[in-house]
Amino acid sequence: MLADITECLPDTDLLLFSDFNYGCLPGELIERLGEACKKHGVIMAADSQASSQLADISRFRDMKLITPTEIEARLALKERTAGLVVVGEKLRKLSRAENIVITLGAEGLLVHAPKSGQFVTDRLPALNTAPRDVAGAGDSLFTCASLAMCAGGDIWQASLLGAVAAACQVGRVGNTPLSGNEIKGEIERFM
Ligand SMILES: Nc1ncnc2c1ncn2[C@@H]1O[C@H](COP(=O)(O)OP(=O)(O)OP(=O)(O)O)[C@@H](O)[C@H]1O
Ligand SMILES: [Mg+2]
Repeated sequence: MLADITECLPDTDLLLFSDFNYGCLPGELIERLGEACKKHGVIMAADSQASSQLADISRFRDMKLITPTEIEARLALKERTAGLVVVGEKLRKLSRAENIVITLGAEGLLVHAPKSGQFVTDRLPALNTAPRDVAGAGDSLFTCASLAMCAGGDIWQASLLGAVAAACQVGRVGNTPLSGNEIKGEIERFM
């Protein structure tokens, strides 16, 4: 995997780690890919699923963006009681991520990111109040927000676009790929 991915990096803008924690991404592979990405100026972002299996989003260091759920963020920190703002701060220090989006299901998301020389936290509600099937919500948010950052958007624009993508995804049955036009259509409905 290291050889195959490294070969692609000269023509790559963005590398997404979507870790389901079944053993495909050992620490050494992540580290070496991270070094190679830095060398080629490739942006990295990561998401790490915890469900039946244990997960640790903080294994992904120096990412442009990480998008754990609240449970995944708390698992990485072994933090059960602190408020979400503190969870965001602690996770930033541990993972050294530049931007953190903690997803909160039907409650939307929390952004913890740099703004004018300090770190700020802000909330965005879920944009679809009548979801039909939540499968793929987190994946859509992660992918769309990362692409937005890669295209030069800031974390606030990226989070909003990610939330729009998640809103589209939960509005239909099945976890199927979203098109740019669907996301555009959704934005036009708001305007
Ligand atoms: N029940 C819901 N109603 C409305 N929006 C939702 C709902 N669940 C998820 N979303 C949207 O999707 C985003 C990501 O969802 P969530 O926090 O459930 O991530 P996740 O658990 O990683 O999802 P996945 O199962 O795809 O990994 C939320 O921030 C919200 O915008
Ligand atoms: Mg997820």
